[in-house]
Amino acid sequence: MSESSVRPLLRADGVGKSYTLRGRRVDVLRDVSLSVRGGEVTALVGHSGSGKTTLLHILGLLAPPDSGRVCIEGAGGTGPADTSGLPDGALADLRRRRLGFVFQSYNLLPQHSALRNVALPFLGSRGAGEARARDLLARVGLAERADHLPGELSGGEQQRVALARALVNDPPVVLADEPTGNLDTDSEDVLLKLFRELADEGRAVLLVTHNPTVSESADVVHRMEKGTLTATDTRDVRSGPTTGTGSTE
Ligand SMILES: Nc1ncnc2c1ncn2[C@@H]1O[C@H](COP(=O)(O)OP(=O)(O)O)[C@@H](O)[C@H]1O
Ligand SMILES: [Mg+2]
Repeated sequence: MSESSVRPLLRADGVGKSYTLRGRRVDVLRDVSLSVRGGEVTALVGHSGSGKTTLLHILGLLAPPDSGRVCIEGAGGTGPADTSGLPDGALADLRRRRLGFVFQSYNLLPQHSALRNVALPFLGSRGAGEARARDLLARVGLAERADHLPGELSGGEQQRVALARALVNDPPVVLADEPTGNLDTDSEDVLLKLFRELADEGRAVLLVTHNPTVSESADVVHRMEKGTLTATDTRDVRSGPTTGTGSTE
C-alpha cells in the first residue's frame, strides 16, 4: 500500500446531535471531527451510550447531524465534499455507491438465500449481481453456503454474508457497528483478516467496537466519551509495536 492511497474518503466536521426526550435535551454528539482514510482500518471505541452508533449512522448518511457536516468522496469535486442539504435521492445514491454497512445483528432477510441476500442490493443487472454475489461469497469463504437461508448459518457465517452484501457495489468505504459483537474468536479472526484485506485494497474501514482484539488490529483508534472524541491513537499494526500515540485533547 503506497502512502498516496492513504487519504481521507469520509469526514465528520464539528458534528453535533441531540435528542429531546420528555422535554429534556440530551446532547449525544458534541463537535465531533474525524477523518476515515482509505488504506486504513479505523476503530471507534467507547462505553455503551457514548454515541458511537449515532456517529456511525451520521457518517453513513443514514441520519443528518443537527450541526456540522459530513463530507464524502464521490459527492462531487475532488476529495470529500459536503453532503449537507443534498436531496434524499442523492444521499441514497451515495449510500448505495460509496458506502457498505455491516450491522451487529447482521440484518439479513430471513426468507432469502445467502446468495440472494448478497445480490439484492446490486445496482446492475440481476445476472451480473448473482455472479458478483458468488464471487464475494467465495471471497468470505462461503462458496458452499450460497443456497443456505440465514437461519441455516452460524452467527459468524451470517456476518460474513453481511460483509459480502456490504461489498456488492464495490464501495470505497465500509462501516461496521460491533461486527464481532456476537461472534466466537475464530469467526472474529476471519472477519478481522477480511477487514484488513479491504483496507489493503485502498478502502476505508471504520469499525465501532468495544472489543480490544478488534481495536488492537486497527491502524487508528478514536476514543469517544459522552459524545466527544477524547483521544486518537495511531499505530503501525503491520510492523508490530505501537509507533506513536497522539491525543486530540
Ligand atoms: N432515537 C433516540 N432518541 C433518544 N435518545 C437516543 C436515540 N438514539 C440514541 N439515543 C441516546 O444517545 C446516546 C448514544 O447512543 P448510541 O449512539 O447508541 O451509543 P453507543 O453506540 O456508543 O452505545 C444514548 O444515551 C442513547 O440513549
Ligand atoms: Mg452502539
